[in-house]
Amino acid sequence: MDNLIDGRRIAATIHSETVARVGQLKDSGVTPGLVFIRVGEDPASRVYVGMKERKCHDLGIHSSTLVLENDTSQSHLLGVLEEYNQDPRVHGILVQAPLPRHMDETVVYATVNPSKDVDGFHPVNVGKLMLHQPGGFLPCTPAGVHELLIRTDCPLEGAEVVVLGRGNIVGKPMASMLMQKSKNANATVTLCHSRSRNIAEHCRRADVIIAALGVPEFVTEDMIKPGAVVIDVGVNRISDPGSKTGSRLVGDIDFHAVQPKAGAITPNPGGVGPMTIAMLMRNTVIAAEQQTLDITGPDA
Ligand SMILES: NC(=O)c1ccc[n+]([C@@H]2O[C@H](COP(=O)([O-])OP(=O)(O)OC[C@H]3O[C@@H](n4cnc5c(N)ncnc54)[C@H](OP(=O)(O)O)[C@@H]3O)[C@@H](O)[C@H]2O)c1
Repeated sequence: MDNLIDGRRIAATIHSETVARVGQLKDSGVTPGLVFIRVGEDPASRVYVGMKERKCHDLGIHSSTLVLENDTSQSHLLGVLEEYNQDPRVHGILVQAPLPRHMDETVVYATVNPSKDVDGFHPVNVGKLMLHQPGGFLPCTPAGVHELLIRTDCPLEGAEVVVLGRGNIVGKPMASMLMQKSKNANATVTLCHSRSRNIAEHCRRADVIIAALGVPEFVTEDMIKPGAVVIDVGVNRISDPGSKTGSRLVGDIDFHAVQPKAGAITPNPGGVGPMTIAMLMRNTVIAAEQQTLDITGPDA
C-alpha cells in the first residue's frame, strides 16, 4: 500500500538542507561542533550515540564523545558541562539518556547552557516552546514528527489530534507544538496517559494519532478512524524465540493491522527515528549560527 510516510526520505531532504547551512558556516570560518556525553555502557545508548556521530561525520559537523564511568559523581559531570558551556568550539551539547540512578537528570539538563541545549530539554527551552517564543530549541523527536506532518501536507488546522503519552521528551512537547496558535499547528489536541479513560474512543475521533507510550502494539485497528494519519514513536523490544537474537523491536502501533485502514502511517523502523537525528543535526547547525553569526534565534 502506498500510504507510508517515508521518514528516511524526508530526513534525507532535511540533511541536504543542513549540509548547505554547514557549508555557509564553513565559508565564514566556523565548523559546527557537537559533543556527546555518555555515562556508563548502556548498550542502546552506545548504538544511538554511534549513529548520531556517524551522521555528524557525513554532514561535516565536528563531533566528539566523552564516555564517563557509570560511578562518576554528578558534581564531576556538572563540572564537565560547565567546561563545554565555556568552550567556543562546542556549539551543541547532548547528554545521552538514561543517566545512572544516582544522578538527577533535571539538574544535569538544567546545567547545559540553554544556547547549546540542542536536545531542547533545558527549562528555558521548554518554557519558550510552551509560550511559543522564538529563539529556543525544540526537542528532536516531537520536532521530527511535526516536520513529517508538515512535509506530507497533513492538515493540522482544526484537526483532532490524539497524542498518546505525556512523557517530557515526546508526548508533552508534541502536544504543545500542535496546539499553538500558529501556522502548521492550531490543532485540537487530546493528550492521553495511563490514567485516561476510554483511550480507544478518543483515538476513534482522531484525524491524527501520535503514539509515544512505550507499550508494544498498543494501538489496534479498531481504535482508528478510516483515513486517519498514524505516527508511531514507540521503540519496544519484545521477546521473539524465532529470531536469531531471541527478541525484536516493535512500535506502539499494530502496524500490519492498522496500515490498511490508515490514510497515512509511519513504518517503524524508517519513520520517526531518522527524523529525530535529522532534527538534532539541524539544531546543532542553528546553535552554531546563533553563536557565531550574530543571529538571535532559530527560525528554521
Ligand atoms: N523514535 C525515537 O526517536 C524515540 C525518541 C524518544 C522516545 N521514543 C520511544 O517513545 C516511547 C515513549 O517514550 P517517552 O520517553 O515519552 O516515555 P515516558 O516518558 O515513559 O512516557 C510514557 C507515557 O506513556 C504513558 N503510558 C504508559 N503505558 C500506558 C498505557 N497502558 N496506557 C496509557 N498510557 C500509558 C505514560 O503514562 P503516565 O504518565 O500516566 O505514566 C507516560 O505518559 C518509548 O517507546 C521510547 O522508546 C522513541
